[in-house]
Amino acid sequence: VFSNVDRAPEDPILGVTVAYNNDPSPAKLNLGVGAYRTEEGKPLVLDVVRRAEQQLVNDPSRVKEYIPIAGLADFNKLSAKLILGADSPAIQESRVATIQCLSGTGSLRVGAEFLKKHYHQSVIFIPKPTWGNHPKVFNLAGLSVEYYRYYDPATRGLDFQGLLEDLGAAPSGAIVLLHACAHNPTGVDPTPEEWEQIRQLIRSKSLLPFFDSAYQGFASGSLDTDAHSVRTFVADGGECLIAQSYAKNMGLYGERVGALSIVCKSADVASKVESQVKLVVRPMYSSPPIHGASIVATILKNSDMYNDWTIELKGMADRIISMRQQLFDALKAKGTPGDWSHIIKQIGMFTFTGLNKEQVVFMTKEYHIYMTSDGRISMAGLSTKTVPHLVEAIHAAVTR
Ligand code: LMR
Repeated sequence: VFSNVDRAPEDPILGVTVAYNNDPSPAKLNLGVGAYRTEEGKPLVLDVVRRAEQQLVNDPSRVKEYIPIAGLADFNKLSAKLILGADSPAIQESRVATIQCLSGTGSLRVGAEFLKKHYHQSVIFIPKPTWGNHPKVFNLAGLSVEYYRYYDPATRGLDFQGLLEDLGAAPSGAIVLLHACAHNPTGVDPTPEEWEQIRQLIRSKSLLPFFDSAYQGFASGSLDTDAHSVRTFVADGGECLIAQSYAKNMGLYGERVGALSIVCKSADVASKVESQVKLVVRPMYSSPPIHGASIVATILKNSDMYNDWTIELKGMADRIISMRQQLFDALKAKGTPGDWSHIIKQIGMFTFTGLNKEQVVFMTKEYHIYMTSDGRISMAGLSTKTVPHLVEAIHAAVTR
């Protein structure tokens, strides 16, 4: 009965890892998926995460019962506080409904399903380009996806005018997906002044902001700085949705731990919204897993552990920033044609190199360097040892 099923293509991002794993070359380098690696090229489990897990293992009162549909209450409160700030009026006024979800993707999907059912607009504007999974998540939830201009290949920076024009022309009430910081794949973020103009436009047109916050702490190294965009939208008293992921900033990729927060106008509305989001979750996966959220809650509620986390997080962010500088310096030293200053200007985990698909294919075939076909490289996958190999490959690709 399944003989007519066609083979689906590999995922454009996760499929890069599949191809990398199949390559026997010792020189191979995976700069595809956004997953942090140490200087030695190894995945990293944060020391504070290991300590939290140890504490959980040693606690005899812990059981493996189902947790509530909305997730762990502590985790939800602490997650809202992390993104909105401890002094957020929205939290003080109990206007935030927070639900533990399956990392960033799960939070986006649950939020989108809720919007499809309960919000009057089903058009969502997403930036061009954006993370490859965004359109799929929203389409499958029944929203119709439109794009707004975001990136200007000529300047390798923000197309701010295009963004304002496209959002200005969006129908009233449309949903707008915003990357809270460290835009994926471009590494290009609006300045605080530009965020303020975006906020004014969104509010004046009654658009509904939906933030994807996958890199809090990873862009600047500061959790508060990276939450600035979200907090300006919450400070004006209006509504928004926020999908939070702990994959990158706590290195909890495979634990699938994240949260969806919906900021409402009143506590009464927030509690009704929460009751409806639970109706989205129950038939989808019943209730979320316990382990990852327990790790996060343990760290966030203990001030020593929290502090140690911020130090380790800053260490990861700083290593990425140093890789940017090293790659830029090495390309300059080699005399590789082109202006590579965008490598040090862009922020977060990725550099949008400007290399085209053909050049990417060449680098993979000849140099065993793996990256997404749009020329995005994960700076977190690079190390001092592997910079020269990458520079050789880029140089060869652009001078062919
Ligand atoms: C990425 O863009 O590489 C990450 O967000 C991982 C993923 O799931 O695609």
